[in-house]
Amino acid sequence: MKRDFISVADCDRPALQRYLTVAEELKLAYLAGRPDHSLSGQSVAMIFEKPSLRTRLSFEAGVTQLGGHAIYLTKADIGLGQREPVKDVARVLSGMVQCIVARTFSHEAVTDLAHWASVPVINALTDYSHPCQAMADLMTVQEIFGRLDGLTMAFIGDGNNVARSLAVACGRFSMPFRLAAPPGHELDAAFIERFARDCPGADFAQTADAAEAVRDAHVIYTDTWVSMGQEAEKAQRLATFKDYQVNAGLLKAAPADAVVMHCLPAYRGNEITDDVIESKQSVVFRQAENRLHFQKGLLKALLCE
Ligand code: CP
Ligand code: NVA
Repeated sequence: MKRDFISVADCDRPALQRYLTVAEELKLAYLAGRPDHSLSGQSVAMIFEKPSLRTRLSFEAGVTQLGGHAIYLTKADIGLGQREPVKDVARVLSGMVQCIVARTFSHEAVTDLAHWASVPVINALTDYSHPCQAMADLMTVQEIFGRLDGLTMAFIGDGNNVARSLAVACGRFSMPFRLAAPPGHELDAAFIERFARDCPGADFAQTADAAEAVRDAHVIYTDTWVSMGQEAEKAQRLATFKDYQVNAGLLKAAPADAVVMHCLPAYRGNEITDDVIESKQSVVFRQAENRLHFQKGLLKALLCE
């Protein structure tokens, strides 16, 4: 039976742990110069409706390093759901490639692809979630602290796609999760209800007070205030979120050894200041690098195990 990777919540802890373990093994092999061509002869279609640096690069370079071939398909190339229906694209691709990676606006486009495709489908970000980001980030946290259990992550800013995936990933690995957001931008009631079912007993809290959220944090995380597709709301969002910047003042309210994370791209002067992103506490480029290794681990586990 094919396995997809659409949401962290679809996977139990052992499955997620397996992806992390294969990723760590592949990272060690890569750094030691030992090739792994597990995807030899396999092709991966990558549908991108939105821009990307890290996600496209990590999948494309990752597939190449594993001996396979990745094909980048933009919205202009295939017009997913416009030039032809998602269900037709899914079945055509299933006849030609061994895996589909998709970054779309609507989350339903990715779940529909997964429904109709007979090959694994990987969510490379939708308006709703960004599971590859969240799992690569846990890989980074594990490397830095040597464990995940009991570490507190504080997410400052918008209750967005990245926040949703991180909340569930933290829930799966017994990591307390705090979200500080302006009223109206927290994770909504429908998410909270689903989260309570997906991660029973998880330590999760939301507040409007950023200083309160970071008080016991091991990891302070932020993301853009204006996600892809929200450009028309930019001016209003910059005003709404102005008190939720990760800056030197906020770090004073946190433990001195907390690390700062950002999925990138970062908008310096908005959600994070230049001095903080360039500081010793920042691990943002290690995070970005681990996107490569997590993606490779995920691909190898889904396609070869
Ligand atoms: N963090 C992340 O997904 O970056 P890209 O949008 O550049 O892929
Ligand atoms: N929340 C951001 C993440 C970018 C990687 C967005 O969706 O644009």
